[in-house]
Amino acid sequence: MSRLNLSSVVTDHHLSAPIQNRTARIGVVGLGYVGLPLALLFNEARFPVTGFDVDPQKVRILDESGSYIHRIPPTEIQLARTRGFSATSDYSRIGEMDAIIICVPTPLNEHHEPDLSYITSTVESIAPYLRMGQLVVLESTTYPGTTEELVVPILEAKNRFKLKVAGDSEETENVFYVAFSPEREDPGNDTVARRDIPKVVGGVSASSTELAACLYGTIFNRTVPVSAPAVAEMTKLLENIYRCVNIALVNELKLLCLRMGIDVWEVIAAASTKPFGFQPFYPGPGLGGHCIPVDPFYLSWKAKEWDFHTRFIELAGEINNSMPYHVVESVSAALNRKRKAVNGSKVLVLGVAYKKDIDDLRESPALTIIEQLQKAGAYVEYNDPYFPRIGKGRKYNLDMQSVPLEDLAGYDCVLIVTDHSDYDYSRIVREAQLVVDTRNATRGISAPNVVRC
Ligand SMILES: NC(=O)c1ccc[n+]([C@@H]2O[C@H](COP(=O)([O-])OP(=O)(O)OC[C@H]3O[C@@H](n4cnc5c(N)ncnc54)[C@H](O)[C@@H]3O)[C@@H](O)[C@H]2O)c1
Repeated sequence: MSRLNLSSVVTDHHLSAPIQNRTARIGVVGLGYVGLPLALLFNEARFPVTGFDVDPQKVRILDESGSYIHRIPPTEIQLARTRGFSATSDYSRIGEMDAIIICVPTPLNEHHEPDLSYITSTVESIAPYLRMGQLVVLESTTYPGTTEELVVPILEAKNRFKLKVAGDSEETENVFYVAFSPEREDPGNDTVARRDIPKVVGGVSASSTELAACLYGTIFNRTVPVSAPAVAEMTKLLENIYRCVNIALVNELKLLCLRMGIDVWEVIAAASTKPFGFQPFYPGPGLGGHCIPVDPFYLSWKAKEWDFHTRFIELAGEINNSMPYHVVESVSAALNRKRKAVNGSKVLVLGVAYKKDIDDLRESPALTIIEQLQKAGAYVEYNDPYFPRIGKGRKYNLDMQSVPLEDLAGYDCVLIVTDHSDYDYSRIVREAQLVVDTRNATRGISAPNVVRC
């Protein structure tokens, strides 16, 4: 249930009836891991939905009722198309939409600073087609201030009708509406349905907040209106920084536990029995994904404008970034105990996705680990059911193909980086000469050839 009282502004708004009766036309810009599922949710709720993406290949795949996201089967796209979903690269169709939701990437550049070029170019493409009364919502994770300092000025300056963003007056002529609403999904986590994740919404004005909450209230069970876009932007960052800092904490404690001969996983399991005040986080080979390794630095960058140093973020980043190097050192030490050097050894990396059971390679620690092992002279192969090959990304150029899990004994070391559920860990331990496990995937298996790190 929405916590909003959809009274005054929204009931009177020209979009409220189209939202309630599902005729409001929704444009989702950026059809990636966030945008495509969101477009499908609105389509499922019977809204006419158009997806916009600059990648012609994605548009073509969707046009042919295919899918490029593992967990979205082509049948879902086929069904959505029968209900009117279509995709396009043609921004002139923005004018046909009533609500436009932006879900484009927000990475860091090579200097570890926010790269807002995707948001900027999207908003510049939308602005010429902006119409009076349209609602524009930004979902991309970003620093507090982006919506009001970047998105609104471009929309105001570059629209053809001299429209202004709606303010707190009840003026409805010559205005458009703008809000920020963060995506809070946890990829691969099927325990919470997407519609059960409350949707935080912060508009530039009360009318923008209410309109956006009214729209999201049709597909989410609860909306959480906040007083400003910056509050919603900061909320998302707090959630991710909380994870980043806590993961860094357990990663550091893991290093200490390894030195002290204590099983950190057993410690976390025991601590998790406390019914209050403790939430478990788990150590690993390093952070991955588009969010946790990236988003905190959006805030530390912005904080500098306020002469403020975000020490927790920097410290957590330092610890988490060092984890792939710890893994490489652990492989080296494990081989050393067998009187072998990394140089010349055959290493099989199991799992390259940044976490289990997902098809996302972005910022995966596996990439750094492979690169570092290769640099040290190892002959590295990998297996990942989600990635038949690894090509070139923003920060890597590996050009490798997933090998079948056949001759495990032929490797000097099998290194578990991602604990995909499909792997038969008993078999891996039985057949491999040496297993280095970064995820506790071999828990419960006691064997002399297993090294947990
Ligand atoms: N993936 C997640 O689990 C997740 C969770 C929460 C928040 N987020 C945030 O959501 C945003 C999107 O992330 P994502 O994972 O969906 O990214 P993604 O890379 O999977 O998808 C982004 C899409 O935007 C398209 N695009 C880029 N520039 C465009 C433009 N100018 N016009 C139209 N389309 C354009 C790309 O082609 C791509 O299809 C990011 O800010 C991210 O931090 C992601």
